Amino acid sequence: MKGLILCGGAGTRLRPITHTSAKQLVPVANKPILFYGIEDMTAAGITDLGIIVGDTADEIMAAVGDGSQWGATVTYLPQDEPRGLAHCVLIARDFLGDDDFVMYLGDNLLQQGLTEFVENFETVRKTKGGPPAVAQILLAHVDDPRQFGVAEVSDSGEVVRLVEKPADPPSDLALVGVYLFDSHVHEAVRAIEPSARGELEITDAIQWLIDQGHRVVHEVLVGWWIDTGKKDPLLESNRYLLERLEPSNLGTIDAASNIEGRVVIEAGANIVGSRIRGPAIIGERTQVVNSFIGPYTSIADDCEIRDSELDHSVVLEGSKIVGIPGLADSLVGRHVEVTRSGQKPAALRLMLGDHSIIDLE
Ligand code: G1P
Repeated sequence: MKGLILCGGAGTRLRPITHTSAKQLVPVANKPILFYGIEDMTAAGITDLGIIVGDTADEIMAAVGDGSQWGATVTYLPQDEPRGLAHCVLIARDFLGDDDFVMYLGDNLLQQGLTEFVENFETVRKTKGGPPAVAQILLAHVDDPRQFGVAEVSDSGEVVRLVEKPADPPSDLALVGVYLFDSHVHEAVRAIEPSARGELEITDAIQWLIDQGHRVVHEVLVGWWIDTGKKDPLLESNRYLLERLEPSNLGTIDAASNIEGRVVIEAGANIVGSRIRGPAIIGERTQVVNSFIGPYTSIADDCEIRDSELDHSVVLEGSKIVGIPGLADSLVGRHVEVTRSGQKPAALRLMLGDHSIIDLE
């Protein structure tokens, strides 16, 4: 079994809060989104990984390297433009050969691992009778199916129809960004035409398999799932992932500080005269001085938080927050400074990047 991880696409949606344009590398609970997917793959025994890369190839390659940190081998497969998920399968043909493979969208985060999903495909193929399934999809009940690929499932559990971003969804079951295929999919991706948005849709390729009389099975997701390219992704996934952390302390905490609940303090971090109420994570070499860090806050490496109170927020690396008493529900990008100068006249002095949002009381 091989793994195909998709990190192509223009990746523009999270640009406002990060200097990198690879949304798959935005850290959640201080770890890039993409790394959770790679960990899930290797935990399921899939170590031969192909990664489709687009205009952010350099950043992805610098972060992932040769995959040896996960015991995996990585083959990079460049895609010239975001031409669709099925196009990724098309260009991965030589890498994939005739092997079964898991396809994983690099900006998706799932609570559930992949092990059961992979094992289930094998079991279903052998035990449910009828022709063997050629594909397995993962579905989740969602509030607004119109933003996703949507599946219609028969009473007996077969997938009978799939439609991409329908105006009038046939169900509330969205396609999650994890798919399992055998080699039949290669014929499907060659047979379909680009959709209205000009892309070769994997949803259409799976529909093609169904139309040819092939069996496509499904599983309904257990636990949470976040397509981080969509709404409020960072704070939400940050909340979920902080709940999973094992508390630890590799930094230093002075006697005047209080640490409550599930808190990770990374190497070289320094907590002075402060209270940290978990779940929270404080990155390497970050200084927290005379401050309160409230639940569901991730502060990345090399930050300085001084005389401030933060709650339910994500701060990326190298940022400085000084003298700010009530920062909540916020995303702070890399190398940002939020300070109080005391300069007269009292005024807000801002230098904001593109697409910034400031919400004053
Ligand atoms: C893609 C797929 C869609 C699927 C979604 C899951 O959408 O086309 O079927 O439901 O991923 O994340 P996109 O992110 O390209 O809009």
